[in-house]
Amino acid sequence: METKNSIKHLAIIMDGNGRWAKAKGLARSKGHEAGAKTIKDITKYCVNHTNIKTLTLYAFSTENWKRPKSEVDFLMRLLERYLKKELQTYHENKICFDVIGDISKFSTKLQKLIQKIKDQTKEYDGLTQILALNYGARDEIVRAVKKLNATASEISEESIAQALDTPYGELDLLIRTGGERRLSNFLLWQLSYSELYFSNTPWPDFGINELQSIIDDFEHRKRNFGGLR
Ligand code: IPE
Ligand code: IPE
Ligand code: MG
Repeated sequence: METKNSIKHLAIIMDGNGRWAKAKGLARSKGHEAGAKTIKDITKYCVNHTNIKTLTLYAFSTENWKRPKSEVDFLMRLLERYLKKELQTYHENKICFDVIGDISKFSTKLQKLIQKIKDQTKEYDGLTQILALNYGARDEIVRAVKKLNATASEISEESIAQALDTPYGELDLLIRTGGERRLSNFLLWQLSYSELYFSNTPWPDFGINELQSIIDDFEHRKRNFGGLR
């Protein structure tokens, strides 16, 4: 009998905001605003209608600083606005908020806000929502190895994994919206045996029906992990 895969940890590369806005004759910033609304809808669906325990969302990469300063500044302000507004959603849905990436590059004000929300939600167990902020997988691995400060004999897959930003176990499924088929420096270590799903839908249009159909597809995939089954 076929056993269904169960999804505990889902990660999403939320891509396509800018193209979504452009197609509507709007400024790219409008796409990011619409994308923020999708984060809320998808997160609430994951808490209330799925078995997912951890949802990791790629919000700002170590390479996104290359964008025009006006767009980077807008994204920082949007993040601040989003977090202030969403604190209520975190409380209402018992969502624990966490961050991966190197936020020491962010303003002190934003870092303090992030810390405050982490502190206020750390006991919640409905779902852990992790935002990847100034996140790059290569940067994460380099920081992990430096943090270990280990001799060659102390280095192992386990010790490196534990020093990464993401001590949340295996990543079951990665979805990238927006039509591109690449990883863009996201979770390179953790994705070793994850299932991948690429959707053409731009993130602002990504909805719970599509998410549920991707989860249904995942449940029936054959996962071997290198062995035979
Ligand atoms: C993803 O959407 C959001 C961020 C990277 C911050 P994009 O801004 O990359 O949108 P496209 O890919 O240009 O459409
Ligand atoms: C990946 O999207 C980063 C985020 C979604 C935050 P990008 O739009 O930055 O990726 P590339 O540049 O198209 O690879
Ligand atoms: Mg993009």
